[in-house]
Amino acid sequence: MPVSHTSLPADARLVILTGAGISAESGLKTFRDSNGLWENHRVEDVATPEAFARDPRLVWRFYNARREQLWRDAEHSVEPNAGHRALVRLAETLGPDRCFLVTQNVDDLHERAGHSDVCHMHGELIKVRCTECQQVTDTTETLMADDSAPLPTCQRCPGILRPHIVWFGEIPFEMELIARRLSHCTHFIAIGTSGVVYPAAGFLAQANRMGATTLGFSLDPPENVGLFDHFIQGPASQTLPEWVDAVLSRSH
Ligand code: OAD
Repeated sequence: MPVSHTSLPADARLVILTGAGISAESGLKTFRDSNGLWENHRVEDVATPEAFARDPRLVWRFYNARREQLWRDAEHSVEPNAGHRALVRLAETLGPDRCFLVTQNVDDLHERAGHSDVCHMHGELIKVRCTECQQVTDTTETLMADDSAPLPTCQRCPGILRPHIVWFGEIPFEMELIARRLSHCTHFIAIGTSGVVYPAAGFLAQANRMGATTLGFSLDPPENVGLFDHFIQGPASQTLPEWVDAVLSRSH
């Protein structure tokens, strides 16, 4: 692996953006690869506020299937992979001021690998939000177990619960925090994302404008591959540990 992008200066400040690709080898489907989530479901049916207003049961079935897979799939349990764990090693070495992880993913694999302070800009499968009082709670319970079960309701008011997930047409979470960290990063690293969904897809151009060094890790070249200073192709469970080990062996 060329030294050019494996040595970090002592004052390096990293912003790392992950997408569905980092969880693919843990057994979770990505969105746009073959047989991906958007091949078997229409975004308009399961990932917009209008879809939830029109058919909340269909939307809950889509998210419950992903919730159950994360926590209760007995056959092939879903665990973090070596890519998630490599990022934990990097974050623990650099510390929170020098390593900021923002993920588009709604799974909890970064946390289960041991990563703290994960910024979930698209929300989290473990969280539900009341559509009336807006209370957000964590639950891994099976919600609406079958079609005859009632829609899940809030414990504090009669409101219907929705997934605490950002749908198309909604504003992602923590955008000010993300902008602040991007505005003074020295390195921007995008991992396992196709670079087609904004505003996340715009972080790379922002980092380039800042003069940051930009690295992309993906199985297939993303749409914006030409904008990276360095692109490392391959499965994240292999490319990330290799890169992190090289960086840490040279870190000050
Ligand atoms: P995509 O499915 O669009 O892209 C997955 C990316 O991961 C592709 O670039 C693949 O080449 C790469 N990939 C697949 N397997 C990999 C592996 N083993 N190692 C490394 N890379 C791998 O997923 P995202 O870019 O995350 O948002 O999608 C972005 C957003 O679109 C999601 O957060 C979701 C979706 O609609 C909302 O729903 C709001």
